[in-house]
Amino acid sequence: NWSMNDFIDLQINHIREVVGDKKVLLGLSGGVDSSVVGVLLHKAIGDQLTSIFVDHGLLRKYEADQVMDSLAGKFGLNIIKVDAQERFLSKLAGVSDPEKKRKIIGNEFIQVFNDEAQKLDGIDFLAQGTLYTDVIESGTDTAQTIKSHHNVGGLPEDMHFQLIEPLNSLFKDEARAIGEELGMPEELVWRQPFPGPGLGIRVIGEVTEDKLKIVRDSDFVLRDEIAKAGLDRDIWQYFTVLPGFKSVGVMGDGRTYDYTIAIRGVNSVDGMTADFARIPWDVLQKISVRMVNEVDGINRVVYDITSKPPSTIEWE
Ligand code: XMP
Repeated sequence: NWSMNDFIDLQINHIREVVGDKKVLLGLSGGVDSSVVGVLLHKAIGDQLTSIFVDHGLLRKYEADQVMDSLAGKFGLNIIKVDAQERFLSKLAGVSDPEKKRKIIGNEFIQVFNDEAQKLDGIDFLAQGTLYTDVIESGTDTAQTIKSHHNVGGLPEDMHFQLIEPLNSLFKDEARAIGEELGMPEELVWRQPFPGPGLGIRVIGEVTEDKLKIVRDSDFVLRDEIAKAGLDRDIWQYFTVLPGFKSVGVMGDGRTYDYTIAIRGVNSVDGMTADFARIPWDVLQKISVRMVNEVDGINRVVYDITSKPPSTIEWE
């Protein structure tokens, strides 16, 4: 694609000119935007780029490994991975209010990032995966009024970096096209939307390690079956939610008393409104059977059939 190639060449020249022999820091979230910025910058300035990837323990199954294998392994980025699972879990202990949880995760994220950034010397620039739509939205603040959205990689307030935002004239699909042109893997480039607070807002109420495991494992089964059914590019976003109540079931000769897991699948253009996805019954059936068999602690699976509005996409 010649126009994407032109864009990449122009950006690489521009980045080299601006950065010179100085150093750049990037916050990697594992999402499309920051990953594309990482690969683009690495191509432009190589080891003058240092990336920080905070694993808050609220990522999906194998996600952190995939990011490291791909971006550090295949593309050769210099990534400092911070294993902050315990730090986040202890901050979240005893907290069940959704807004409080979001704030805690967002603040903790910035702190962990800052702590790590402070250890680095001589950084002049901070790179971000800001898109054109982010630029427009930050002017209006519409999303903020309903839920305090946080995006991984927010600018640490007490740090005075110069910003580099190579994607800030692009829409999401253009950023994906740049990623493809740069040779990035499909799983990364076509990743579905994933909230900054991650699985932390898919465990309803207090977040515990056991509950996170149920959400993570059931989400993995869901994504696997959706991919096997060839629907992964057709459904805009799909995930599981653990409401946190238990109900009675039967297994063999015995009675069970275990958690219910909910499946959420929606189609949307921009996340502002959404319609619940019409996942075929036979696919839902396979998912249901596998979840109960493979995920410890579940004996019931339900499908969320509300659209947005009146519901939101996430449950918290
Ligand atoms: P809601 O639940 O508000 O979600 O209907 C709309 C879209 O936004 C995603 N979402 C977030 N994205 N940080 C993000 O970057 C967040 O804090 C956040 N909360 C929700 C959600 O997954 C859906 O795609």
